Amino acid sequence: MANVFTRVGEWVNERAPNLAPTYRKHMTEYYAPKNFNLWYYFGSLALLVLVNQIVTGIFLTMNYKTSALEAFNSVEYIMRDVEWGWLIRYMHSTGASLFFIVVFLHMFRGLMYGSYKKPRELVWLLGMLIFLVLMAEAFMGYVLPWGNMSFWGAKVIISLFGTIPVIGSTLVEWIMGDFLPADATLNRFFALHVIALPIVLLLLVVLHLAALHEVGSNNPDGVEIKKGPKGNRWDDHKPADGIPFHPYYTVKDLVGVGFFLMIAAFIIFFAPTFGGWFLEHDNFIPANNLVTPTHIKPVWYFTPFYAILRMIPSMFGTAVWGVIAMFAAIVLLFLVPWIDRGQVRSIRYRGAGFKVLLFTFVVAFIALGAVGAGVIAEIMPSWEIFFGRVWTIVYFGFFLGLWAYTHFGWEKTKPVPERVTTHD
Ligand code: HEM
Repeated sequence: MANVFTRVGEWVNERAPNLAPTYRKHMTEYYAPKNFNLWYYFGSLALLVLVNQIVTGIFLTMNYKTSALEAFNSVEYIMRDVEWGWLIRYMHSTGASLFFIVVFLHMFRGLMYGSYKKPRELVWLLGMLIFLVLMAEAFMGYVLPWGNMSFWGAKVIISLFGTIPVIGSTLVEWIMGDFLPADATLNRFFALHVIALPIVLLLLVVLHLAALHEVGSNNPDGVEIKKGPKGNRWDDHKPADGIPFHPYYTVKDLVGVGFFLMIAAFIIFFAPTFGGWFLEHDNFIPANNLVTPTHIKPVWYFTPFYAILRMIPSMFGTAVWGVIAMFAAIVLLFLVPWIDRGQVRSIRYRGAGFKVLLFTFVVAFIALGAVGAGVIAEIMPSWEIFFGRVWTIVYFGFFLGLWAYTHFGWEKTKPVPERVTTHD
């Protein structure tokens, strides 16, 4: 048998001699820092969820009907009558939320360890593009079951474009293909959700990893592994603090996959709607343009940005400022590599000010998420606007603070080690 494999290998190698070197470059001879910690699981987990979304999405498409008249019932049909349809649907809907949890943690890791700093700016930018496309992908997917929140969510979000001066209302009509979210809207969102955006996502992920492998991974110490003295006596060109990605990290990542699958399975089997956070109650009611849900709000992963949109008042007779602020909240994330002028990468060796800034940023993000989800409106309605505006200021304050802190040389960093550190 082994002989057959060797011969097939040789046969392929003769015809595609670059395949094996490419495999080696990205797997067995990709030297990753030996001090990766728990935070480095989320890249491979993001890949896993991406594959899950594509595979379950293909199976959903086999029974989903793209029509405003049939979409809602076809999803109910998948849930009740298609063999294992409920599982496929819940794997897909839970996968969407897990995708954002994983990606948020993955981005936070980047902020903590300065993975966006030179020479990895391109890795970060491609990551941010992935994030943008992922948001568009999730938004359009949410519209497809044609529940009441699908309809009203689509209406509110598409109507945002209506605040743009001069072209606004024409643009809204053009995006919807009608005067309301309708059959035409559903059909084009389906096309974008199942084919156009997934292709773009896959392409961006390939570029993201290619860009990373050009410069090599950062690590929790934020020092380059190639900088240290060469440690391998028998082979001087290998980085002293690097270990081959395969088998070391493929095996380590499998441990993360195991834990992740346990959590995912628990949610899928026991709490697939997650109390209305992953699948909202209003989306179990068919779309109805005459009945508005009591609280129109997006799914949890959009709520921080949605809160910023809502907290900015209309001024000079236009509501466009909220839309501008919401986009600015994302654009600023793109610019982090240039906003942060600090020389030290990892939070381990950065000044106290950086830790305070990052901590308040995370608190602001979560607090804004709560505002956007309507949690504050429920428990202390009269405070909602004040609370939301304060955290909006803190959110933007992070970027201004980070720039000032590093631009004016206020940061007092700790000595950075020459070589990566481990606890063995
Ligand atoms: C579909 C979504 C994504 C996938 C599949 C993905 C995949 C990966 C993988 C496999 C790695 C290498 C392993 C690791 O360092 O964890 C990585 C590294 C990285 N990713 Fe992503 N990523 C995604 C989204 C993002 C986003 C949204 C950002 C941030 C804007 C981002 C920023 C980074 C950075 C800066 C690194 C290098 C980290 C380091 O070396 O310390 N990624 N990504």
